[in-house]
This record gives sequence, structure tokens and C-alpha cells, in this order.
Amino acid sequence: MNPPLVTIRDLHVELGGNHVLCGLSTVIPSKEIAAIVGLNGSGKTTLLRALLKEIPYTGEIRFHCGHDHTHTSPSHVGYVPQKLRLESNMPMTVRDLLGIAMQRRPLFLGFGAGVKMQMSAMLKLVGASSALLDRPVEKISGGELQRVLLALAMQPEPELLLLDEPAAGVDVTGQEQFYDLIHRLNREHGTTIVLVSHDINMVSKRAHRVMCMKDGKIHCQGTPRELTPEMLTQIFGAQHGMFAHDH
Ligand SMILES: Nc1ncnc2c1ncn2[C@@H]1O[C@H](COP(=O)(O)OP(=O)(O)O)[C@@H](O)[C@H]1O
Ligand SMILES: [Mg+2]
Repeated sequence: MNPPLVTIRDLHVELGGNHVLCGLSTVIPSKEIAAIVGLNGSGKTTLLRALLKEIPYTGEIRFHCGHDHTHTSPSHVGYVPQKLRLESNMPMTVRDLLGIAMQRRPLFLGFGAGVKMQMSAMLKLVGASSALLDRPVEKISGGELQRVLLALAMQPEPELLLLDEPAAGVDVTGQEQFYDLIHRLNREHGTTIVLVSHDINMVSKRAHRVMCMKDGKIHCQGTPRELTPEMLTQIFGAQHGMFAHDH
């Protein structure tokens, strides 16, 4: 295991009177892919939001990268949220979306040549065609939208990338390709990735470590090989059945 990028100790989060995270402790190793799996409601999204400092918590979240973490959403942490709320009555192309994120200037002034080249490069990084730029965001497929959101999260290039169920709503082939892409970003850029999923089969092929969450805590963790069917049954119930040590 690589040295930790983040150490989390005795993390508690209360939201709307619910004790959502209940004394969670773990480490996120640098330059690795850590998958967080668990049933709906186990606190996966809440853990990511605590890492982004979006919500109040008690306990310790310590980053070892030397950046300033006193503010919300530090710029070297990229985040792809579970759900994107798009205003469907506001026609916006992929170019507009990337442009707003890249430069703080009114859209009617247009984008300079440098910005256009950068947008194409951003899409290329995530294996998407620059033909997407002219398409309305609400008309592109789930898989294409995931790539655009990933391109946004990679700009500026993050040290830590948080992905919340990034392949939900994408077909199986699209999911495989998306996980391949994440794997490549980790390998080639050394990006530390925390990937929330409820698909243990999919993540066990790509993640270096798997953390299983239950009731606001890490119930068990280890390399995909170290997780026994018995442990997974405790997390997912007897139905998970499909998990195989096939890698
Ligand atoms: N703002 C909130 N107020 C009250 N309860 C919340 C809030 N956000 C999340 N929760 C509760 O916290 C639990 C964990 O939510 P979440 O972190 O989204 O789980 P997961 O991502 O694993 O599905 C759920 O029971 C959810 O209802
Ligand atoms: Mg969630």
C-alpha cells in the first residue's frame, strides 16, 4: 500500500437529525484507486461531501498533500457528483458548460482560440470527441455526459479525484470503458481516485483497495482478493452472489 494521501479518524456526521457517519476511520492511499461500496443509504455520498468540506463533521480528516484544506471544495480535488441537476429549460452546449468552468467571463464575449484548443484537449483526455462541443448537454447520452463531467473534474488536474457512482445509468459496455478510462488516468497521471459504486464486480477488477461501508462505518476493507464472500454477504446480504475472484 502506498503512503496515505488522506487519513480519516473517528469521523461523525449528523444531517437533519440523522447520525449518518458514525465513527468512520480509514486511510486513502496516494496514487491508488480506492473503491467504496455499500448499500444505498450507508453513507458513501456523505463521506465524499465530508472530504470536500461541504458539510460539518467531527473527527479528523487529514490531507498529507500540503495543500490548503480550510476552504470548501479545494481546487486540487476533482469531484463528479452522483446526480447532476441540469436546468432543462436552459439550452447549453457542451462548449458552454466547459467554458463556464474554464473562464470566468460572460459567455457573449465568446471563447478565445486558446480556450477552444484547451476544450478539445480536455475532451481528448477522457476519450471524447470534440464533435461533442456543439451538442446540447441535455441531448448527449449518459456515457457522454459522464465523460464531460470527468473532463470538468480533471480541470485543473486534481491530485484527488472523487467519483460518486460515475457509471450509474450507463450500459455495461459503457461502464467497462469508463472504468478503463479511470484506470488509465490513475496509471498515467498518478491521480488518487476514490470511486463510489455499488457494483462490487466492476470495481474489484479496477480498484487497488475496496472499502465496504455499512451503517455509516467502514465495515471491512482490503484488496479485492482479501474480501471474502462471507464479508460481502454481511454488507450486501446473501443476494450479492456474483462476486468472483477472477482477476
Ligand atoms: N441532508 C440530509 N438530511 C438528513 N438525512 C440525510 C441527508 N443527506 C443524507 N441523509 C441520510 O444519510 C444516509 C446516507 O446517505 P448517503 O450518504 O447519500 O448514502 P449513500 O450515498 O451510501 O446512498 C441516508 O439514510 C440519507 O437519508
Ligand atoms: Mg450516494
